[in-house]
Formats: sequence, C-alpha cells, structure tokens
Amino acid sequence: MKQNMKHLCSFLCHFLVLFCLFTIIPSVYGRKFHSSCKKHHNNEGDSCNTFNILSFGAKANGVSDDSKKLVAAWKTACKVGGGILQIPSDHKFLIKPVTLQGPCMGHVVLQIDGTLLAPPEIRSWSKSNLFQWINFKWVHNLTIQGSGTIDGQGYNWWAPMKSKHANLDIKPTALRFYASEGIAVRDITIKNSPQVHLKFDNSRGVIVNNITVLAPGDSPNTDGIHLQNTRDVEISHSDIGSGDDCISIQTGCSNVHIHHINCGPGHGISLGGLGKDRSVACVSDILVENCNIQNSLYGARIKTWQGGIGLVKNVTFSNIQVENVNFPIVINQYYCDKSLCKNQTGSVAIKEVKFEKMTGSYSTQPIHLACSRDVPCTGIDLSDIQLKPSRRPLEGSQLQQALCYNSYGNSKGQLVPPSMNYCLKKDGGGSGSVHQISRFSSELC
Ligand SMILES: *[C@@H]1O[C@H](CO)[C@@H](O)[C@H](O)[C@H]1NC(C)=O
Ligand SMILES: *[C@@H]1O[C@H](CO)[C@@H](O)[C@H](O)[C@H]1NC(C)=O
Ligand SMILES: *[C@@H]1O[C@H](CO)[C@@H](O)[C@H](O)[C@H]1NC(C)=O
Ligand SMILES: *[C@@H]1O[C@H](CO)[C@@H](O)[C@H](O)[C@H]1NC(C)=O
Repeated sequence: MKQNMKHLCSFLCHFLVLFCLFTIIPSVYGRKFHSSCKKHHNNEGDSCNTFNILSFGAKANGVSDDSKKLVAAWKTACKVGGGILQIPSDHKFLIKPVTLQGPCMGHVVLQIDGTLLAPPEIRSWSKSNLFQWINFKWVHNLTIQGSGTIDGQGYNWWAPMKSKHANLDIKPTALRFYASEGIAVRDITIKNSPQVHLKFDNSRGVIVNNITVLAPGDSPNTDGIHLQNTRDVEISHSDIGSGDDCISIQTGCSNVHIHHINCGPGHGISLGGLGKDRSVACVSDILVENCNIQNSLYGARIKTWQGGIGLVKNVTFSNIQVENVNFPIVINQYYCDKSLCKNQTGSVAIKEVKFEKMTGSYSTQPIHLACSRDVPCTGIDLSDIQLKPSRRPLEGSQLQQALCYNSYGNSKGQLVPPSMNYCLKKDGGGSGSVHQISRFSSELC
C-alpha cells in the first residue's frame, strides 16, 4: 500500500515536471521567439516563416524589375523550416530570368496569387539565359500553389524571327525544375511561354494537379508540360491548350501517371521524339487514362527518330476521348522535323503498348502505326476503339484508311472503323535477329 502511494506520488511529481517542461516553458519562450522574428521581418503579413515579396521591397507594378526581390524572398523562405513565400494577389511582378536554388531547410510553399510577368522584349534576355525564365535547381520538397498566373509574354518569340538576336533556336522555358525532388505544382495558370511552359528535368517525385496551361494554338513549340529524365510523376485534373504537345515525355522517364487531362488545341499527349542523332532512349511504365483531347493534330502518340537505340516499354493509353483530332493513334518511327531526313538503320525498340477504350472523332486517319523496318513494334494491343470521321475536319484533310506497318500484336473488342481489325500482324513479331536487337536494347535501358 505504502509502496503504491510512493509510486503514485513519484508519478505525479514526474508528471508535473514534464507538464511544465512541455507546455508552460515553451509557450513563454515560443511567444518570445515569435515576436522577435516578427520584428525581424517588419511587414505585418509576415510571421516567423511566412514571407511576402512586398516586404522585400518589390515594386509590384509590372514594369520595374522585381527579380532581385524575388530571389531575396526565396533565399529567406528557403532558410527557415517550412517557409512560405507569398506573391500576393492583385499585384504584377516583372521578373527577369532567375534561378531559385535549393536545398532548403524543410518544405517550402510558393504561394502565387498575383501575376509573375516575363520581360516581353527579346533583347532584355541575355544570351546566357535563353534556356529558361524561372529555374528551380536542386530543390527538395516544394509546393507551388495559388490562384495566380505565370505569364511568359512570349508573343515576340513566336513571330517569325526578324530580330538580330543570335541563336534564336533556343527559346526560354517558362518554369523549369532541374535535379529536384518532391515537387508539387497545383492550381496556378501558366500562359504564353516563349517555348515549353513547365519542364521537369532530372527530377523525381512530381505531382501536377489542377493547373491551367494556355497559349495560342498556332504558337510554335509551346509544349504544355515536358518531362525528361524524370520518374515517379502524377499529372492530373489539368487543362492544357497550346501550340504543341500538351504533355511530352522524353528519354529517361518512367512511372508516369497522367489522368483527367483536358488537352487541346495542340499536338496531343506524346512520347518523344526519341533517339535523335543516334542517341539512346529509355522510357517505361507510362499510363495515360481518362483524358479528353480535342481539335488537335494528334491524340496519343509515340515518335522516334531513325537510327536511335534503346527501348520504349509498357505504355498504356486508356479511356481517351478524342474530338476532331487528325491522327488520334500514332506510332511514328520515322519522325523528322524537316521535310526530309536521311534513312538510317536501327531504331528505338517499342514494345507492350496498349491503346484501349478510345472513342470520338478523327479528321484524317484513325490509326497510323509506322514502325521501323529494322525493329518492328511488338506487343501492340488495340481494344475497344470506336472512331468516327469528324463532322468538321480541317480544310483540305482527306480521310485515310488505318495504317499499320511492321506492327505486331492483338486486337480485341470492337474496333471501328473495321479497317483497324486487319491492321496489326498477329505473329509474335520478327526473326531471331529482331529478338537480338530487342535484347540489346533492353540491356541498354
Ligand atoms: C522531403 O520530404 C520527405 C517526405 O516528407 C522526407 O522524407 C525528406 O527527407 C525530405 N527531403 C528533404 C531534403 O527535406
Ligand atoms: C483549382 O484551382 C482553382 C484556381 O486556382 C481553384 O479556384 C480551385 O479551388 C482548385 N480546385 C481544386 C479542386 O483544388
Ligand atoms: C506498367 O506500367 C504501369 C504504370 O506505370 C505500372 O503500374 C505497372 O506495374 C507496369 N507493369 C509492368 C509489368 O511493369
Ligand atoms: C528511305 O527509304 C524509303 C523506303 O525504302 C524510300 O522510299 C525513301 O525514298 C528513302 N528516303 C531517302 C531520303 O533516302
């Protein structure tokens, strides 16, 4: 009994001591710490870890250069754990090309409710900075969100080049992530980029959700989202319309899930061009599902250059609605951005590609599978595809029959137009030498 009392007493004493340690003391010191960091960043909106670009002296008139203020605010938000950098609504910030560099202490939120504007005049871009406008480098665990807009003001770049600026083959990407990880981009609008709107390069762990990408249908090379050497990606619930691919997947990408995308105008959702200049290309485990593609040149597409090596494997396009798309289903292993490219031997191998549950309307050719002479496509599956001629095709477009060249695989379910039923070759695909090439490609990837 006595023993028990003793235990109880010591338990209560411990409890009281711990209670003091964990609640009263920190709350006093916490308040102190809080107020001291408030004093430090003197704007009312700022607290310990929230930083408004206005308190760094940004002019916010859309004309004065606020780049240095953005970089300063980024560095500060990056240094504290859980920093939040605010770009407030109803303000416009002119930003010249900048690099926002990590790693940061913990997760950073870039809250964009206002507008970031790129310099519209080409001459205000220095030659060394033509690759991108806002460049995130070595950043881990960042969320970009808000109802704001990133406006590349790219119209001068789209016009046929009359400027004296050298090397105008290179045009800036609006928002680029390099060697970054744990990145979420949500809710914002990215528009009128000089070239690609949002690019992930050498990165991992990417979530893009509920964004809008907007550029005129005739603006050249203005891809929506571009992935390169990037894995573990989910892109969903977004609206993308531009002058080129809505989403473009390049070499080194794997485990990419794309769903609920509304795409068009533009060139559809693409893998490639892969294997340019005889390069190695490896792409695998790509799932594109529940998407709408309208008023586009292409729908679901894989394109490779002649002469490349490597492998595209395990790609599924499922439940894709197309409307007024010239070529809804495409594999093109003769990709060429000029009118004529030299014939070359060898090709990036393509296997295990499914096109399933595709419905809607086409305006030129329902399916176009032009596989390499040297390395046929194998394991191509077509199932439940129903495509009608579009009622409002582009002017001058002539309807063509399904085309499959050197493509092996199976057709299942209903295929409309019926010419698709006889398109694929049924046999497993090719000779011993083909298997050898294919094995060589797999080992490379
Ligand atoms: C990023 O977040 C993940 C998950 O919360 C965590 O495991 C990782 O350590 C973080 N990385 C950095 C560099 O903060
Ligand atoms: C998507 O983004 C818009 C615009 O930023 C926002 O108003 C809306 O609440 C977001 N929707 C979801 C489901 O998060
Ligand atoms: C094919 O890719 C999908 C989507 O990335 C993935 O879930 C699945 O496991 C992959 N299948 C194989 C056999 O690797
Ligand atoms: C490439 O090969 C195709 C088919 O053999 C042929 O029709 C075409 O003229 C060749 N192109 C060139 C540029 O040699």
